[in-house]
Amino acid sequence: PRTNSFLRAPGAQLRIWAHRGNSSAAPENTAASDEAARRAGAEWIENDVRTTKDGVPVVMHDETVDRTTDGTGPIQSLTAAQVAQLDAGSWFAPAFAGQRVPTLAAQLDGLKTRGGNLLLEIKGQHTRSSVVRIVQEIQVHRMSGRVFVQSFEPQYLRWVHELAPELPLGLLRFELDPDPVAIAKDLELTAYNPSDAALQTRPGIIRELHAAGVAINIWTVDDAGRWDALERAGVDGIITNCPAELAGWNAGR
Ligand code: G3P
Ligand code: CA
Repeated sequence: PRTNSFLRAPGAQLRIWAHRGNSSAAPENTAASDEAARRAGAEWIENDVRTTKDGVPVVMHDETVDRTTDGTGPIQSLTAAQVAQLDAGSWFAPAFAGQRVPTLAAQLDGLKTRGGNLLLEIKGQHTRSSVVRIVQEIQVHRMSGRVFVQSFEPQYLRWVHELAPELPLGLLRFELDPDPVAIAKDLELTAYNPSDAALQTRPGIIRELHAAGVAINIWTVDDAGRWDALERAGVDGIITNCPAELAGWNAGR
């Protein structure tokens, strides 16, 4: 198998992937949560990317802006200028009032300036041209060496691979595929990223993926008891809402 730097060396710490930034300490998918994740010691920060009505990639988890902003409606029905007006921090805590829904470009700028790497989930509905736009943002920012792309949608990963074969890819899964290794080979994955519930249906998949040179990261795990079990089971990394706590746990091992 080819060299995969996302495989955890024997005795090495679990890789921390900060889910939506440090989303237990700051409003998810904002500059504040990315900064909090970086300060918590997370090497990798997960953000979700969707596309506005006028084709601008922006960082937001939900299909609508209702839960995490003071606006309403599907993000796909709003222009980037409209999205830029929204408050994405007050819902979390008054101290975060004025946080914005970041454009992908702004998040890349922030990481480039302050440090940190981006686990970018391509979320929701995309066309080939909206995926092209996302890949172009990464390339224009010269961030290819510091971005990892993941998605539940294999087609998006195929497009990314065709456009930017240098980007490492992860497939997200709520449930395990019948043959995860075959899919990993077909999509040329660097990582296969199942839910913790999915992994528990077939823990042997860790060894199978590793034998094929594919890393495995588990989401979304915030419980130290599970970090311990998963570390012993040999997974490579944890996608967590609690990156500071996982960093502390890693340090105490
Ligand atoms: O990174 C895994 C996780 O982000 C997938 O679920 O809904 O939080 O995007 P979700
Ligand atoms: Ca996500």
